[in-house]
Amino acid sequence: MSGSKRTRVAVLYNFVGVDQYAVLRRRVRVGSVVSPTGRIEDLEKIATLREEIQALVLALQEEGFDCRAVNIREDFNRLLEALTSPRPDVVFNLVEFFNDNALLEDRVAGLYDLLDIPYTGSPPLTLALCQRKGLAKQILKAHDIPTPRFKLVAAEPIPTLRGLRYPLIVKPVWEDASAGVTERSVVDERAQLEEQVRHVWEKFQQPALIEEYIEGRELGVSIIGNKPPRMLPVEEMDFSDLPEERRRIISFESKWDPLHEDFHKGTLVCPAKLSRAVLRRVKALALRTYQVLGCRDYSRIDMRLDRRNKLFVLEVNPNPDLTAGVAFMASAAADGMTFSGTLRFIVEQALSRRKAPPAEPAEAKAETKSEAKIEPKTESGGES
Ligand SMILES: Nc1ncnc2c1ncn2[C@@H]1O[C@H](COP(=O)(O)OP(=O)(O)O)[C@@H](O)[C@H]1O
Ligand SMILES: [Mg+2]
Repeated sequence: MSGSKRTRVAVLYNFVGVDQYAVLRRRVRVGSVVSPTGRIEDLEKIATLREEIQALVLALQEEGFDCRAVNIREDFNRLLEALTSPRPDVVFNLVEFFNDNALLEDRVAGLYDLLDIPYTGSPPLTLALCQRKGLAKQILKAHDIPTPRFKLVAAEPIPTLRGLRYPLIVKPVWEDASAGVTERSVVDERAQLEEQVRHVWEKFQQPALIEEYIEGRELGVSIIGNKPPRMLPVEEMDFSDLPEERRRIISFESKWDPLHEDFHKGTLVCPAKLSRAVLRRVKALALRTYQVLGCRDYSRIDMRLDRRNKLFVLEVNPNPDLTAGVAFMASAAADGMTFSGTLRFIVEQALSRRKAPPAEPAEAKAETKSEAKIEPKTESGGES
C-alpha cells in the first residue's frame, strides 16, 4: 500500500483572494512595517498558504506518490475537472468551504463519495456536525461526554440564561480557527454578554453560542488512524507569556495576527506535563469523542482541564491544520513520525477504503479465468 509511482494523489484546496502573509512579508522586507517584538525573522518564518501546500505536495512526492495540488478557486467546474481529468486515485482533502460558506464543506466531501473517489479525512456527516458546534455538543452530551454547558441564541430577545454561570464565552457557532474569539468574548455580566451576542449576529450572521467559560489548562489532543484510532502525545498551550490580566484563550489575534502584541504569546508544550491518571482520562475521552462523532483518519480535539481536574471537550476539528511543526504535526513529531510519513499514513487510510473493481460480466469472465480473483472489499466508512 505504500506510495507507488502510479498512485495519483490530488491535493484539493479552495482559496481566492490575497494571501495576507505574503503581503505582510513583502511589507516587512521593504521596511513599511516592523515586528512588534523587533524580531523580523519571526514574521519571515510564517509560511504562506502557497508554501504550505507546496510542502505537502513535495512531502507526498518524496513518499513516492504522483501528487499535484489544485486550487479549486470557488469554481465547481474546476473542482469537477480536478476529479475527472485525470481521475485521481485519492484526494487529499483540504477544502474547508465552498462559495465562501463553511457550512458547505461537507457537500464537497459528498461529491467525492458520489464519484466514488477515496479521500483523506472525515466523511460528510462528521464534517457537517463538527462545523455546527451546537449540534456536535448535543451529541457529546447525549453520550455523557463532558462539554461546557451552553445555549444557542439566534435572535432577540436574548433569554435569561438560567443554569449557566458567569464567566461565559460567546462565540459564533459555525466558525473555526478562533474566528470571532477575542478577549471581549469572555463576559462577566449581562450587559457585556448582550453586546457580544449582538456583535456575533452582526459580524458573522449566525447564532451565538454562549458557553460556560472553563478556567484552566488548554489541551490539544490529536488522534490518528482508524483501526484502531491512536492518540498522539498531548499538547498544552502554555499562556504564561501573556500578561497576568489577560484571559487565557487562543484568540484570533494571538493565532493569526503577527502585528498584534498577543501574537504567538502562547507556547505549545508537547508532550504536556500531565499525571498518568489525567492522561488516561484524556485518552479515553478523546477516543470516545472521535468515535462518537464518526471522525476518520486524523482529527484534533480541543479540551480544557479545570482547576479541579475535570475535563471538558471544547470542540472537535476533523481534518485539522497540517502545517509542519504545529498542532497536529507537532504531536505527530513528538510521537516520532516524520512530516511526510504522517501524510503518507493519512493517504494510506483513504486508499484502504478504495473499492475493488466491479465483477466482470459473464462472457468476459471465461476469457480471464486464469487471472487472480479480486474479492470485493466492504467499506467501513467510520460513520457511527
Ligand atoms: N468554554 C470555553 N472555556 C474556556 N475557553 C474557551 C471556551 N471556548 C473557547 N475557548 C477558547 O477559545 C478558543 C477557540 O474556541 P474553539 O471553541 O476551540 O473554537 P475554534 O473553532 O475557533 O477553534 C479555544 O481554543 C479556547 O482557548
Ligand atoms: Mg478550537
